[in-house]
Amino acid sequence: MNPIQVGLMGIGVVGSGTFNVLKRNQEEIKRRAGRGIEITMVADLDVARARSLVGPNVKVVSDARALITHPEIDIVIELIGGCGIAKTLVLEAIAAGKHLVTANKALLAVHGTEIFAAASNQGVMVAFEAAVAGGIPIIKALREGLTANRIQWIAGIINGTTNFILSEMRDKGLGFDVVLKEAQRLGYAEADPTFDIEGVDAAHKATLMSAIAFGIPVQFDKAYVEGITQLGASDIQYAQQLGYRIKLLGITKRRFGDLTKGTVDGVELRVHPCLIPSRRLIANVEGAMNAVMVQGDAVGTTLYYGKGAGSEPTASAVIADLVDITRLHTADAAHRVPHLAFQPNAMSDLPILPMSAVITSYYLRLRVVDETGVLAKVTSILAQSNISIDAMLQREADEVGSENQPAQTDLVILTHDCVESCMNAAIARMQALPSVLQTIVRIRKEDLA
Ligand code: HSE
Repeated sequence: MNPIQVGLMGIGVVGSGTFNVLKRNQEEIKRRAGRGIEITMVADLDVARARSLVGPNVKVVSDARALITHPEIDIVIELIGGCGIAKTLVLEAIAAGKHLVTANKALLAVHGTEIFAAASNQGVMVAFEAAVAGGIPIIKALREGLTANRIQWIAGIINGTTNFILSEMRDKGLGFDVVLKEAQRLGYAEADPTFDIEGVDAAHKATLMSAIAFGIPVQFDKAYVEGITQLGASDIQYAQQLGYRIKLLGITKRRFGDLTKGTVDGVELRVHPCLIPSRRLIANVEGAMNAVMVQGDAVGTTLYYGKGAGSEPTASAVIADLVDITRLHTADAAHRVPHLAFQPNAMSDLPILPMSAVITSYYLRLRVVDETGVLAKVTSILAQSNISIDAMLQREADEVGSENQPAQTDLVILTHDCVESCMNAAIARMQALPSVLQTIVRIRKEDLA
């Protein structure tokens, strides 16, 4: 059988890795796919550079539409990124009947519903293993390997840049700004690292995992997104003293409402810094590595670890999708793996819960005047709010008082689970106490047990 022909849009870091791995492992891949897979056309604005990367036997064009409309091309790989021209080209490729492989998490998290519907109408596949956690086959695991399970929750370190920054802040006791500059110098963080450090990149990935886990549409606009820019070095140190590490987690959880507690049915979808017990394997995932924990009712807890970015690790995921499509492309659409794991007519309208309805535990740090009764006032507000304290830490005053300047200290409190709206109200009351001197720091905590 002739090799299946692939067109590649965008030959940057991941594109060149894909081209190289496909070439280097072509015999092995052919034995697995049952057919050769060849990139025969590349579209990139920098034609000269693209040509130097792929050699004379691959056609290089600057206009991606020449590739999309080429009758010999069966599969289009989109590695342009973003939601601009990439979206237009992806929809045109689908309309032209091409199967699609993409690493574009932003595009699918924001416009996935439109793209998957267009693909279903055309009977083509959209594969996106590389969009979540780079080389870790987490989409395959969720969509196929864990298909027997009711997924209960997923929690992942799914952004390497922020994990590198947090690891360095903890190891070296440095502040966020200093480490960010180091991450940029080492090439982990982009010159504009906003999407990474503000949690947006992780939220794109969490949105995709949430949809696949619970059979709901992709709903990035409903995700709660909080990055690591406000995280202080002292909170990382206090967390460590209490037996925790702080990680930026992407979390999605199925919640079953309980009328007696005033909680409702739905799905939590959130990205924020999170305390996790140091003894958990995932707490020890350091540097730019990624890891995802999935809890299913039958399998229990599973953990997937590996490189979440980089040329060949991400190419590994792109090529896995090419092989899947090559194996399945003669099957009729009804017998292929559904884009979001569940059959399109069996999707659920389970709502994404607002952050106020999320249930979790908390780390609170209060900068207080070191005087009689402060602790009693704080704990009585928590008790009146039905929030149970799990652990507490108070150091001797670290700023010695004077006539005009009272002594100050940090009061650190870990709580048991409560509803976020209840915690918000308690924080507002504590913040209003005259002895609380600065904005109360609140970091959510997950046991991941
Ligand atoms: N910016 C991402 C990260 C790269 O730091 O993990 C892969 O999505």
